[in-house]
Amino acid sequence: MNLKSGTDTGNRSGTLESAAKGKSEPVNSLTADRIARLTPSPVREILSVASRPDIISFAGGLPDHESFPDVGLKKLDHDALQYGATEGEATLRQWIADDLAKRNLPVAAEHVLILNGSQQGIDLVAKMFVELHTLVAVESPTYLAALQVFSLFGAGYTSFEPSSTRELGHSKPALTYCIPTFQNPTGYCYTTAERQQLANACDNNGSVLFEDDPYRDLVYDECERQPVCSYIRNTDWIYQSSFSKTLAPGLRLGYLVCSPALYPTLCWLKQAADLHSNRLSQQLVLSLLQSPNYQDRLQVITSGYRRKRDHFDTLLQEHFSHLASWSKPAGGLFFWLKLSASLDTRDLLQAAIGKGVAFMPGESFFAKSGQSGSHLRLNFSHASETRSGIGLKILADLIEAESVGNY
Ligand SMILES: Cc1ncc(COP(=O)(O)O)c(C=O)c1O
Repeated sequence: MNLKSGTDTGNRSGTLESAAKGKSEPVNSLTADRIARLTPSPVREILSVASRPDIISFAGGLPDHESFPDVGLKKLDHDALQYGATEGEATLRQWIADDLAKRNLPVAAEHVLILNGSQQGIDLVAKMFVELHTLVAVESPTYLAALQVFSLFGAGYTSFEPSSTRELGHSKPALTYCIPTFQNPTGYCYTTAERQQLANACDNNGSVLFEDDPYRDLVYDECERQPVCSYIRNTDWIYQSSFSKTLAPGLRLGYLVCSPALYPTLCWLKQAADLHSNRLSQQLVLSLLQSPNYQDRLQVITSGYRRKRDHFDTLLQEHFSHLASWSKPAGGLFFWLKLSASLDTRDLLQAAIGKGVAFMPGESFFAKSGQSGSHLRLNFSHASETRSGIGLKILADLIEAESVGNY
């Protein structure tokens, strides 16, 4: 089956298969060396297939359309059409600083940098710290589009798990990247002790802590969410979050804050990249954040997602209890399944797409090949409950058939 049919991304990597396996193809003999390390994002490739109406998609981290706000475009100020400050709109930066103070991360509004999505923060931080062979510590597994960026700049990797951060002391990474709250892809939320240990490890080995926190407000069960950066005593740190998951990803708005020494360079890198973030989006986000209904809106979204998560868990128990193991996530948008059989989930994806179901193969989330086991990341927020039931049954039947002889 040619999975290219029905895609319209126009990217040069071509097929979904090459994206899922992370192969890049040569473009031109004059391109910079780093382009040889550039890999396509499997998420974006799979999403282009997964957005077809005939596909039930558990692939991307897509919020539910029903959760999007009424954006009331008519209220926007004309100034938003003019060039703006690289740092972002002052009132929005102040709102963010006030919000972070409530989360035990006091920062000056002058150290908030508004981003065109938090993905941009990963790019800027990588430009600042990562060159060929720079050692970056990442969770195993971790957010695949962060690996995509770090690898482009030539990173080497050392991996850690939330329970083994003490070992980071020996490896001396330059940068330690983590998603401690409702991790992508595992959904794991670090305990208080694990947060303190990670901060101590960075303080001790001198690496810059880079905390990525886009899921913190999508919380369904009580758990610790205080930023790891708030425990840092000596070393430099960067903390970022996003409005993609709680407002709308199409607005492309996120932000970073950091220890004061890092701010000017990150700001110049942002300047060099795109001058400033979209001002219409900034105004719109600010008006939504300042609306008296904002907290109620968050409540509605989280209770909707909690219900979807619980329903998805019930469906998994019905169809996957003999095929896989998983933990119910306390927040975020994903279930992370470990299959009992040993299967290459990238090959499984090809077969699943043929039957109208998409998911994210686990292999893409590991910095080093051979670490991956047989995992699937399943998003539960996007598909309706009825379509989730249909899709999970199809997937379970397929895995059952493919697993014969692979235990
Ligand atoms: C851990 C993590 N970081 C960053 C991003 C990028 O988000 P955005 O650029 O939409 O803010 C995502 C998106 O799914 C994510 O899961």
